[in-house]
Amino acid sequence: MTNPTTLGSYDPPIPLAEQISHEWMLDPAITYINHGCFGARPRVVSQSQQRWRERIEARPIELIDRRRDDLLSDAKAAVARFVGVQPQDFGFVTNATGGVNAVLQSLTFEPGDELLTVNHVYNAVRQAMRHVAERSGAKVIELPIPLPVQSPQQLVDAIAAGLTDRTKLVVVDHITSPTALIFPVKQIIELCEQRGIDVLVDGAHAPGMVDLDIASLGGAYYSANLHKWACAPMGTAMLWVRPDKQAPIHPTTISHFFGEGLAAELSWQGTRDMSGWFAAPDAIAYFEQYGWDRVREHNHQMATWVQRMLCERWAGIGVEPTTPLDGSMIGSMTTLRLPERMREVGETPIELHDRLYDEFALEVPIFDWDDAWWIRASCQIYNTPDDYEKLADAVLKLLA
Ligand SMILES: Cc1ncc(COP(=O)(O)O)c(C=O)c1O
Repeated sequence: MTNPTTLGSYDPPIPLAEQISHEWMLDPAITYINHGCFGARPRVVSQSQQRWRERIEARPIELIDRRRDDLLSDAKAAVARFVGVQPQDFGFVTNATGGVNAVLQSLTFEPGDELLTVNHVYNAVRQAMRHVAERSGAKVIELPIPLPVQSPQQLVDAIAAGLTDRTKLVVVDHITSPTALIFPVKQIIELCEQRGIDVLVDGAHAPGMVDLDIASLGGAYYSANLHKWACAPMGTAMLWVRPDKQAPIHPTTISHFFGEGLAAELSWQGTRDMSGWFAAPDAIAYFEQYGWDRVREHNHQMATWVQRMLCERWAGIGVEPTTPLDGSMIGSMTTLRLPERMREVGETPIELHDRLYDEFALEVPIFDWDDAWWIRASCQIYNTPDDYEKLADAVLKLLA
């Protein structure tokens, strides 16, 4: 790993516009560097959702019943273009967890079958895997991949080493939650497909963080949030299934269109607020004014700079990067291992989080993973370098 104290010069990105934060719903009193958790909404997106709510409430039967298919198909067309899928191969769900559950609960496993994942898996997905494994006598295998990681190949090799004749499904995050790593999902899918093993990708963080072409990845299943990095209203997510794998897959809520194909089944999962789904194209359009490539590049450059800057500023307290400092394995988030000394500041990660929030108005996640404490900084276009300098100062002050 590069020694952070010997780094050359590096720069944060140029802001995409002079004043961006006022376009967002976030409270300016809080320095918000946890976009990765629930995303955040630009005002225009909340307003769009509100307009949809009003239209729905004004004419419920017309919008939700008679015009539903048309309205959904308009919204799906924009999302399909954005993530690289055909409209007939996906549907909206409320969250990535729901998409993952729909797949896991639709599949059948035999005693002794193995469901493979890695220890970076999102905990809710881990529990969903446990649930389906326990009821069928299958096993969940969780491969340990310790940090730091040096290369994508290391991740592919780790998964390759875990495949056995009993592996029936591999569940892999496109971008991991605690550790913010981009997994080389295309290579992992190729590896598994060669052995006839299906891959379920948990792409909760992918839309909006990475340039996405889901169908070309070649996997069987892809569940993704639009409410994180595409900043659609909360409760807007999608489940895509490769055409040859669709027949046995059903939403977790079986309803009127059972047996009529995945897209039809997903189009009606019982009465629910569809305003967020209808507003999703406006979230995609909001970023188009800046250009999606520029947005992703801005956020990535910021995350790369933040990783290096925090490693430099915190070199004296013994912080460790988790991925190469050139940013090659991260997107818009970076996770750093905190030194043992942080336990002097709070007894638990929550206590440390609360001190940063209460004393410095910083919203940043701290968590326990693999027997250490970690901090994850998210970078969205409303963030500025000052946000992270403030974090650097706050941690040093707490330790002083
Ligand atoms: C990798 C990963 N998977 C799944 C989820 C769950 O997302 P949701 O709560 O929207 O279902 C998250 C949320 O942070 C995540 O990071």
